[in-house]
Amino acid sequence: MRTRRYGAIKLGSQTNVALLGLLAIAFLTGWLAFAFGTAPARLSLIVHATGGVAILLLLPWKSMIARRGLARPRGGRWASIGLGMLVLLSIAAGLGHSTGLVLSWGPFSSMEVHVGAALAAIPLAVWHVVARRVKVVRADLSRRTFMKGSVALGAAAVSYAASEILVRAATLPGGARRFTGSYEAGSFQPAVMPVSSWMFDAIPVHDPDAWTLRTPGREWSLRELATFDDRMIATLDCTGGFYSTQEWTGVRLDRLLPDIRESSIRVVSSTGYDRRFRAGEAGSLLLATRFGGTPLDAGHGFPARLVAPDRRGFWWVKWVVAIEVDDVPYWWQSPFPVQ
Ligand code: HEM
Ligand code: HEM
Repeated sequence: MRTRRYGAIKLGSQTNVALLGLLAIAFLTGWLAFAFGTAPARLSLIVHATGGVAILLLLPWKSMIARRGLARPRGGRWASIGLGMLVLLSIAAGLGHSTGLVLSWGPFSSMEVHVGAALAAIPLAVWHVVARRVKVVRADLSRRTFMKGSVALGAAAVSYAASEILVRAATLPGGARRFTGSYEAGSFQPAVMPVSSWMFDAIPVHDPDAWTLRTPGREWSLRELATFDDRMIATLDCTGGFYSTQEWTGVRLDRLLPDIRESSIRVVSSTGYDRRFRAGEAGSLLLATRFGGTPLDAGHGFPARLVAPDRRGFWWVKWVVAIEVDDVPYWWQSPFPVQ
């Protein structure tokens, strides 16, 4: 009887510790995938999805723990239940997005719900781990535990691979996702390209005659900028879950900053939003005033927006009013915008 009880406790603490590790992996790899607009995003998402599926596979064990915990008379149960609901909501929205079966929840995309629920779960998860502390004993770190963990992860990886094959075999919309997980929308059709902004930026409306762009040593009117005809075909891949390829027209930043000696370029929006780039990138960045031959509209950044190929959408600063140069290192900024 005593061994059975010890066995149950051990399995309980192992499940909880495994969940902690998997949640940490899911958070880390989710953000890592957002940090890349190139191939490493896929690698990160494979680990991410495997972690997410492993959390689901642990559900039968965790529900036994939860039932036992709920039977105890103590405070804080609603916080634990809230955590459960948010994690399940995040996983459901993640799967809805990846399969393509559910791509929106009212005004929000599944990807926004997915990340939003995960962010909302953070304080509850921290509280939960502190309030429902588990004791890890030496026996938990055995070879057997390691083997069990590997089997669970292997099962999750196989389930994820099988789901990806199934999505393609059943020709679900998810089969057409880009390597970042995003769906195509409005490519080469500026009029139907979705509008999205980081978090809660409202769309500012600029008077084209009053608007100016400030660069080191001079100001440009929109009319002056419109005389440039540098073109670039580039894909905006939004962290909200869509991508759109357009032909962008405007002026390359190395033309606006011909004798740059400083180490970084700061592109500033009229909303105060800004992103910093390495000086060496000036030749591959475009300040666009048009897409698909038509002027930008307010939602897409009129009068001028940045085009930053191979970078996720939040680098493509809209409503640009200033391009500055200085010696602050380009990496001296939050990896993701905070406003
Ligand atoms: C996917 C993430 C998780 C969810 C959804 C979840 C949910 C729950 C729920 C609903 C309960 C029962 C109510 C309660 O006792 O407050 C519970 C209990 C518990 N959880 Fe979690 N939990 C998660 C992760 C974790 C982690 C990472 C740990 C620790 C590392 C942990 C440790 C515990 C402990 C020790 C109990 C109490 C069990 C008992 O009293 O017998 N949980 N959890
Ligand atoms: C509670 C934490 C999280 C869990 C458990 C989780 C789990 C999942 C799951 C199960 C999927 C579906 C994978 C599939 O079968 O294709 C998914 C997709 C995705 N998640 Fe998360 N996730 C979490 C947080 C995040 C965060 C914080 C981000 C970004 C900052 C993120 C970004 C993504 C992306 C981009 C996809 C789409 C992948 C694709 O379609 O290929 N996730 N996630």
